[in-house]
Amino acid sequence: MPKVPEPGGLNLGPSGRHALGQVRLMTYVVTEVCIKCKYMDCVEVCPVDCFYEGENMLVIHPDECIDCGVCEPECPVDAIKPDTEPSLDRWLDINRQYSDSWPNITTKKPAPPDADAFVNEPGKFDKYFSANPGEGD
Ligand code: SF4
Ligand code: F3S
Repeated sequence: MPKVPEPGGLNLGPSGRHALGQVRLMTYVVTEVCIKCKYMDCVEVCPVDCFYEGENMLVIHPDECIDCGVCEPECPVDAIKPDTEPSLDRWLDINRQYSDSWPNITTKKPAPPDADAFVNEPGKFDKYFSANPGEGD
């Protein structure tokens, strides 16, 4: 039987994806819905502590995420998605970029007092995205 290569041993391109054939690593990403909601239920359940905190949203480090999927149903506003969903390339890039510079967060803190007001608001990235880091743990 031919050996199946270990995903961890593959060389990743800048996008975090493998360039060869059908092999593609998966991750979960935090999307626009998180902006200004930041409920932080997600950080409590991640077994590898791969959430990072910005001023008004969190991101997931794509190389640290083990794709367990546990965080996805924990988010009350459905902001966490597997990157296999269409049109999430932009969010994969944002998660990758900011997880390198924002601080790690592993413990839930209170959501912003006005979080509920932003749950269904469209276009939050253009209006509110902040590249500033949060405080982390
Ligand atoms: Fe953490 Fe699992 Fe969510 Fe990845 S999918 S961020 S490992 S809880
Ligand atoms: Fe954001 Fe949902 Fe976590 S709003 S902080 S992804 S629980």
